[in-house]
Amino acid sequence: MNIAVVGTGYVGLVTGTCFAETGNHVICVDIDANKVQMMKDGKVPIYEPHLDVLFERNIRQGRLSFTTDLASAIKDAQIIFLALPTPPGEDGSADLKYVLGVADDLGKIITDYKVIVDKSTVPVGTAEKVHAALAKNAKEDLFDVVSNPEFLREGFAVDDFLKPDRVVVGTSSARAQKVMEDLYKPFVRQGNPIIFMDERSAELTKYAANAFLATKITFMNEIANFCERVGADVDKVRIGMGTDTRIGKRFLFPGIGYGGSCFPKDVQALAKSGNDAGYEFQIIKSVMEVNELQKTSIIPKIKAHFGGDLKGKHFALWGLAFKPDTDDIREAPALYVIDALTAAGATVTAFDPEAMANVKKVKGDKCNFANDEYEALNGADALIIATEWALFRTPDFKRVGELLKDKVIFDGRNLYDLDEMNGLGYTYVSVGRQTVGSKKTANV
Ligand SMILES: NC(=O)c1ccc[n+]([C@@H]2O[C@H](COP(=O)([O-])OP(=O)(O)OC[C@H]3O[C@@H](n4cnc5c(N)ncnc54)[C@H](O)[C@@H]3O)[C@@H](O)[C@H]2O)c1
Repeated sequence: MNIAVVGTGYVGLVTGTCFAETGNHVICVDIDANKVQMMKDGKVPIYEPHLDVLFERNIRQGRLSFTTDLASAIKDAQIIFLALPTPPGEDGSADLKYVLGVADDLGKIITDYKVIVDKSTVPVGTAEKVHAALAKNAKEDLFDVVSNPEFLREGFAVDDFLKPDRVVVGTSSARAQKVMEDLYKPFVRQGNPIIFMDERSAELTKYAANAFLATKITFMNEIANFCERVGADVDKVRIGMGTDTRIGKRFLFPGIGYGGSCFPKDVQALAKSGNDAGYEFQIIKSVMEVNELQKTSIIPKIKAHFGGDLKGKHFALWGLAFKPDTDDIREAPALYVIDALTAAGATVTAFDPEAMANVKKVKGDKCNFANDEYEALNGADALIIATEWALFRTPDFKRVGELLKDKVIFDGRNLYDLDEMNGLGYTYVSVGRQTVGSKKTANV
């Protein structure tokens, strides 16, 4: 099939590349001319494991190309994917200006039947709005609008796309349903379902899934906070709970809050959609409040250790991306930690394997950057860990201890074993577990 993907970010580029990998001809469109030039030059503009191999192969074999010109990209396409941003507007709702703007443009230029697929995360009722935007200029028999939310995880995006747990397709058109079924057939050969439903249910499925996962993490963060106050160990509680198959083991790891380009904005947008429909989501409201506090929950622990005053202290920070295996820093807890530390008069030297260039753009003046994880430690009063990159899991603790002024680690991701840290002579403060090695630090 000929496919156009409009918006070539994390979702659009993975979508386009993976569809090309199954033999389709894909043209990816973006308004960012620099990004398009970079991709034409054969460079992947984001860090996403395994994407580069597929990207290079499909360009070389002539199935994947890039342009800034919407009209030429969609001319021969049977399917047009919209993978456009839906950032939070001022009131927390998803801003649909990119999606509806492109729908408007498409209405003016389509001349034969196209399936127009909304892959962006959009509120209930958006397919109807996209339909209306197209219908202003295009005849109704020239298009169908389909909702096909994307569930990929950054860091696992290629695997998730090639072998999805399920594909959700919202459509009321039998013609569009057949096109979508044919397109996705190669991705579900192991028997995972393509679930067809109406457009509104498909749109809500994405928000419900993300809000549920954000709730699961947040619930565990609250259990961890409680563990700290009553002397329980959240690792043990987590294993004890997670082995119940009704609960499951995943998404139970506590830490310094969720971030990223999806959970914060999607949870907020669902709450706003609820308000608009006269329904107040109590759980969602609490999840947002708890996560807001959790992002800087490590700061009082650091302050307690240093007698309440961080002025003139210097910290090493390991991890900037909102999670490992991505360079995405949108709503990353590390950014909130940097802000809180610098506001308290401290300085920070950070290291992240992939996300430093992005952080330099937004926090360049507030933070120093190191060439590797050990250089970041030089002369620091303590190490803070904000992202659980595999690289940080088994450091040379002897070297870490020699480079730090004092052997103190504040771990927002629970990477290390308490007994081991105790044995190595560290003061080690983590989340939902007892502090080892020091009486000075309160786990507050
Ligand atoms: N990132 C994820 O993990 C993820 C997962 C599932 C769903 N989503 C959803 O997918 C959508 C896209 O997310 P993303 O992370 O890929 O965003 P992104 O910001 O990485 O990419 C969006 C791209 O669209 C381009 N763009 C903006 N206006 C355009 C226009 N008029 N024409 C062409 N291109 C235009 C931007 O230049 C950018 O390259 C959002 O709704 C998001 O919520 C994201």
